[in-house]
Amino acid sequence: MAAPVPSPATSAPDLGQPSSGQAAGSQAYRSQADRYDRRTDAFRRWRELVVEHLPAHRGDTVLDVGCGTGLCLPLLQRKVGPSGTIVGIDASAQMLEVAGARVIEHGWDNVRLLAAPVAEASIDDVADAALFCAVHDVLQSPAALTHVFAHLRPGAAVAATGGKWPPRWNVALRAWVADLHAPFIHDFTGFDQPWRLLAGFVPDLQVTELGAGAGYLAIGHARGRLEHDEQ
Ligand SMILES: C[S@@+](CC[C@H](N)C(=O)[O-])C[C@H]1O[C@@H](n2cnc3c(N)ncnc32)[C@H](O)[C@@H]1O
Repeated sequence: MAAPVPSPATSAPDLGQPSSGQAAGSQAYRSQADRYDRRTDAFRRWRELVVEHLPAHRGDTVLDVGCGTGLCLPLLQRKVGPSGTIVGIDASAQMLEVAGARVIEHGWDNVRLLAAPVAEASIDDVADAALFCAVHDVLQSPAALTHVFAHLRPGAAVAATGGKWPPRWNVALRAWVADLHAPFIHDFTGFDQPWRLLAGFVPDLQVTELGAGAGYLAIGHARGRLEHDEQ
């Protein structure tokens, strides 16, 4: 994947149309969980960026929404520290199996993994932050987002990153993006502005394009941000 190149910010405040958000059960995740980390290594810098910019703090509880094989877990660990808590949610048992092995390997005792579609996950916590890393289908699902935001405190930190359609004139890049993401996306609806629905939950969402428009970084806070949250 091309190195991320930040470019001018854009944002979209409107709610989008419902979609199924069912990539979780796709064949890609069943058959490729063991190869997923290698196949998506080029995406590593965007993972680092999104966690770096997630406005969360040490001791916070973070929801890693669609955590997959847990590639964001080490980055989140550095962010929240041992006094923090990370709740990974994913519907793919195969992906979670890899994430679980990662948790054991590192001896983390502050990570909980929930095997469920996001919209139905039994989230016990009121979390301080939510991370959406490369989860296009989840971001297109009003039910999933409503459920996540019901478990966030007012003013909670929110960050998202992933692929998006680059400009139409860039035919070669669009073809490359389609090829890269097709195995992992159930439905490309909304891929021009994948953050559109999220913006309805995050009033101050700031969106920056990455990689010549082939990706984005979206950062903000859930509604109800208090003055003392601002730093
Ligand atoms: C492309 S992977 C991203 C994984 C991880 N966030 C990362 O950065 O590598 C997308 C993940 O989202 C999960 N997923 C997609 N839709 C989901 C849903 N509705 N509920 C739960 N998990 C879902 C898939 O199972 C998959 O593990």
